[in-house]
Order: sequence, then C-alpha cells, then structure tokens
Amino acid sequence: MRPKVLQLITEGKTKKVWETENPDLVILEFKDDITAFDGAKHDVISGKGAINAAISAKIFEHLNKNGIPTHFVEFVAPRYHVVRRLEMIPLEVVCRNIATGHLVKRLPMIKDGTRLEFPVLEFYLKDDKLHDPLINDHHVVLLKLASWKEIEEMKKITLRVNEVLRTFFEERGLILVDFKLEFGRDRNGKLLVGDELNGDAMRIWDMYTGKILDKDVYRKGYPLDEVLVRYREFYRRVVGADFPGEEVCLAT
Ligand code: C5P
Repeated sequence: MRPKVLQLITEGKTKKVWETENPDLVILEFKDDITAFDGAKHDVISGKGAINAAISAKIFEHLNKNGIPTHFVEFVAPRYHVVRRLEMIPLEVVCRNIATGHLVKRLPMIKDGTRLEFPVLEFYLKDDKLHDPLINDHHVVLLKLASWKEIEEMKKITLRVNEVLRTFFEERGLILVDFKLEFGRDRNGKLLVGDELNGDAMRIWDMYTGKILDKDVYRKGYPLDEVLVRYREFYRRVVGADFPGEEVCLAT
C-alpha cells in the first residue's frame, strides 16, 4: 500500500526525500537535475528523473529477488520510490571490474579499459567540500562511520551485487564497468543497500559498440540532447521498452 506523503525531509542534488505517515518508510523523488564534479557542473534534462527512477526500480527489484538486502519497497511511476527509512552511512562503496575514471588517474600504470583480475573495492568519504576523499577500512572505523563487522558486511554485499548485476547486464548486451553503492541501517541496525542504482551511479558500456550509456557522457561534455539519448538507450535495455516521455532539454 502506498503511504501518504507528508513533508520534505531533505533535498539533495538529484533527489528529494519525503516523510510519509509510516515512520519506517520514506519516498524518494528523482529530479531532472544532472550534476558532476561535486556539483560544479549542473543542468536540467526533462525526463531524466523518470528514466533514472525506472532503471533504479528494475535494478533494485532484481537485487531484492536475489536476496540482497535493500531499502527498495515499491516504484510509483513516473519518478518516486517508496523505500525503507535508513540512517545513511556517509560512505560511497565503489566496485570496479574495468579500470577507468579515478582509478587510472590515481594509478596511471594501469591502462584505461583494462579488465581487472578481480573486482576492486574502494571506500570514499561522502563529503563534497573535501571532494569525497578515498579512505581505507581503518579510517572508516577511526571516523566511527561503521564497525569492522559492518565493513566486512558491506564488502560482502557489494561483491554479491557485482555478481548479480554483471549477469543482469550481460544478458542485456551491456558491460558493468564499475558502480557505487551507499548503505544505511534500518531501525534494527540491519545494513541495507540504499540510494539509487542507474546511470548516475555506474558506468555501463554497450558490449558490441563500446558506447557509453551512463553519466560519463555528461562528465565528458557531450551535448545535453545526446546525454538524454544515451540515458534513453540505457532505459530501453533495462526496462525492455522505449521511454515514453518528452525530449526537452533545459540548460541552467
Ligand atoms: O569517478 P570514479 O572512477 O571514482 O567512479 C567510480 C564509480 O562510482 C562510477 O561508476 C561513478 O559513476 C560512481 N560514482 C558515483 N558517485 C560519486 C563518485 C563515483 O556514483 N560521487
């Protein structure tokens, strides 16, 4: 049953979080905003919120079906998710299958596009002012963000998500290059995967053409209408139908 929306709890760069009449549930609203470089680059693309909400819903449904603990409860089209209320941990857990992005910037001896021998996990502190620094397990415990046991649990869940999603995307002719998870604790202290899973939080390449279908096209400065084309293609591959919305881009 869909809970009634009460007031706004918080608004981020790409999502709003709404309180509901059920204290254990909140509603995520996916906005049309797109941002990069810690918010320094920002635009609005009409339809982007609905595309990302639908992609994220499909992916979370698949994770739930595979027994992975997530916050996702229900998709309310076009742009809302009913999710379990969590106390979010300010960490970004990144998992990489192919070297690109910050990994090759930091370690240039690894060639861009190299398939990694094993999935590489990293923790970043979620803090725009500090530009989300890379941190290790010791820092996570030192900063009291999570316990040693929770760190192991987050790593285990992230690797399982990677296995499940790699197959999910392979079946759709897509390569999961890397992705970012965020975790939170429910009222019993149980760790759940939260936030969103779509082209804003992962790199996805077409298996045959190598075409980028994620936010990297925006980061690389492609025109906004081309960014929308790529997001729509990602939608089509994940949802299995064309996105029905409008194609109007509004630069801010
Ligand atoms: O930029 P970097 O190579 O570290 O990104 C690794 C993965 O994490 C990419 O899929 C990227 O989209 C995701 N990410 C994210 N939010 C951030 C930083 C990275 O979703 N703030």
